[in-house]
Amino acid sequence: MSGGPNTIRLSPTDRGIRASVALLRQGGLIAFPTETVYGLGADARDERAVAGIYRAKGRPSRNPLIVHVADAAAAFALIDLPEKGIMAAKAFWPGPLTLVAPVREDAGIAPICRAGAATLAVRVPAAPLALDLLRAFGGPLAAPSANLSGQVSPTSADHVMEELTGRIDGVLDGGDCAVGLESTILGFEEGEPVLLRPGGVTVEALQAVLGPVRAVGVVEDETPTAPGQMTSHYAPGAMLRLDAMEPRLGEAWLGFGPGPARGSAISLNLSLRGSPEEAAANLFAHLRTLDTLLDGKGTIAVAPIPADGLGHAINDRLARAAAPR
Ligand code: TXA
Ligand code: MG
Repeated sequence: MSGGPNTIRLSPTDRGIRASVALLRQGGLIAFPTETVYGLGADARDERAVAGIYRAKGRPSRNPLIVHVADAAAAFALIDLPEKGIMAAKAFWPGPLTLVAPVREDAGIAPICRAGAATLAVRVPAAPLALDLLRAFGGPLAAPSANLSGQVSPTSADHVMEELTGRIDGVLDGGDCAVGLESTILGFEEGEPVLLRPGGVTVEALQAVLGPVRAVGVVEDETPTAPGQMTSHYAPGAMLRLDAMEPRLGEAWLGFGPGPARGSAISLNLSLRGSPEEAAANLFAHLRTLDTLLDGKGTIAVAPIPADGLGHAINDRLARAAAPR
């Protein structure tokens, strides 16, 4: 993008944070690490700054953003949560959970963050660097995943640089994200929790605190019927063949557990020891690596991933990446 900003890599130090805050206060765009994925942050109170997020990502203007704050009290001042929402906040914040509820009239959040919805999505991230940035900034940061719209979420500063150099002001480099999958998104209907997107907090963990959680069959689609339901997300250029027992001729192989990698010239393993946590942390980076090695063509065969715990969210992202496009 000619004429775009120089994208600065900022160190995870007081100086790097101070520089990030200065740029954010000027309406700039700064990518920063959370424990889930890197977010592309802007001052959530600044309409023009938030418009820049949509422009930099090429994001459809109908797809609302998550607002990040430093603690639950700040979140409660933005949205009107039902009792079970407050229970979830107390149990899982800071952490990989996003709560969606009606926005308060005096929240002071730029309406463009909501893209027309009456509700606002809010999250308190757990990554220390994200919290340091939020505290130093002293206000809410709107932040979608820091990738071009439709691409795989970034789990390292290098991933962000590859896609957004020249489009954003800086990347606060905090290394690799610990969880590696986006946050779980929870909404409410008549006070009862509904799962809008599986993610870093497992459904089992939610249910242990909240009782039954209804799953709405969320398929992200470019022509959404409701916010939170948008297509061809998390999509590499290569095709994906899921639940594969072994690679076919010419396919790349993405394994899980000590299964066969034989027969494939290009193979990676999500977790040799079969750990869903390790697999989640590796998923997006491995998809990027295989896609690059395949030059964005051909097929990646993916081993079956058990569906419980974090496996639910891993399978959700794989299904989206494999969806016809
Ligand atoms: O882990 C994460 O959630 C990361 C980090 C940076 O926080 N963020 C992230 O943002 O994944 P994004 O924009 O890539 O995905 C957020 C999803 C979108 O599908 C959006 O449609 C949905 O949240 N969403 C945002 N506001 C909503 C609302 N008011 N109602 C329903 N869905 C909403
Ligand atoms: Mg995203």
